[in-house]
Amino acid sequence: MITNDIRYVGVNDHQVDLFEGQYVVPNGMAYNSYVILDDKVAVMDTVDQHFTQQWLDNIQAVLGDRQPDYLVVQHMEPDHSANIVEFLKRYPEACVVGNVKTFTMMGQFFPDAPKMQQMAVKDGATLSLGKHVLHFVFAPMVHWPEVMVTYDETDKVLFSADGFGKFGALDVADEWDCEARRYYIGIVGKYGMQVQKLLKIAATLDISIICPLHGPVLKENLGHYIEKYDIWSSYRPEDSGVMIAYASIYGHTKAAAEALAKELEARGQKVVLADLAREDMAECVEDAFRYDRLVLASVTYNGDIFPCMHAFLHALTERSYQNRTVAFMENGTWAPAAARIMAAALEKSKNLTFAQEKVTIKSAMNDETRASIRRLAEELTK
Ligand code: FEO
Repeated sequence: MITNDIRYVGVNDHQVDLFEGQYVVPNGMAYNSYVILDDKVAVMDTVDQHFTQQWLDNIQAVLGDRQPDYLVVQHMEPDHSANIVEFLKRYPEACVVGNVKTFTMMGQFFPDAPKMQQMAVKDGATLSLGKHVLHFVFAPMVHWPEVMVTYDETDKVLFSADGFGKFGALDVADEWDCEARRYYIGIVGKYGMQVQKLLKIAATLDISIICPLHGPVLKENLGHYIEKYDIWSSYRPEDSGVMIAYASIYGHTKAAAEALAKELEARGQKVVLADLAREDMAECVEDAFRYDRLVLASVTYNGDIFPCMHAFLHALTERSYQNRTVAFMENGTWAPAAARIMAAALEKSKNLTFAQEKVTIKSAMNDETRASIRRLAEELTK
């Protein structure tokens, strides 16, 4: 029970191998759905395709013989919309509430859907269920164009769609910040401007509870979660620290990255080292956004940089990486070029400060490179 009238009818997924086809979720995933009980009954979103029966059973357990009047579709990504047709088979009289874009997408995802009652709402529209009045607020490109969030003014609940979601099923305890950050940076990170716009609207609402489509219902200390979203969506570093992301083949570049980590730690700096070829890329991207300084260390490979470094830089620029200090370390046995190529990849990124010291390793560290690493550690500590 969320409030007297709002019930949770979502499901936990411990079978999913990769969420959205790319994110590892060791603690599973939750697809949240809610029922609002009033003179009229509204169901907020459906769940992933693998949980049809469980979800319908959850709804039935709350409603008994009552019939839902509305299915509100806030987001058409299939982890939330997959069961629209199954819902209508069970409750054919229910009216589906969305916006014009929602219904266009619904036609694309379900070309054979039966005729249904539709209510296409406009931004700012309201829907009275009796005591509860729902306000629909469009949140285009957070992170799909049809997304809308819903504010229930009676219970002061914000149904926030993917916003304030996290990886992890609800029957596993883990830290919100960590898995919400990896979720946000990975999935919504590109759309900071749009999230900022939504936060400004949210600031005008009196919110007591946030009901996201993933992760726990947030009832306390809402300022903490809103502050994190403000930091992430404005691309400000969250913590002071140096992330060293390396791509190494035989271990010499790795050794140089570790030597730099040691020098930085000796100077009191928080350091996160990441082997881009072996660690979860989403975790690496998350850390790059979390800290204020980033060191990119790559071998030169086929006159280019190592593939995992390419993927990493692409993931950063795709998500508008900015407002940080970046340094380069390169390795090359005959023609080191990685630093130049990595710098070029970040050419269009806004407000980056590049360290003057560039560490160039020729095959393996020597006294000269060790001195260069010390100079870089000094520069990054200033
Ligand atoms: Fe949770 Fe964008 O779907």
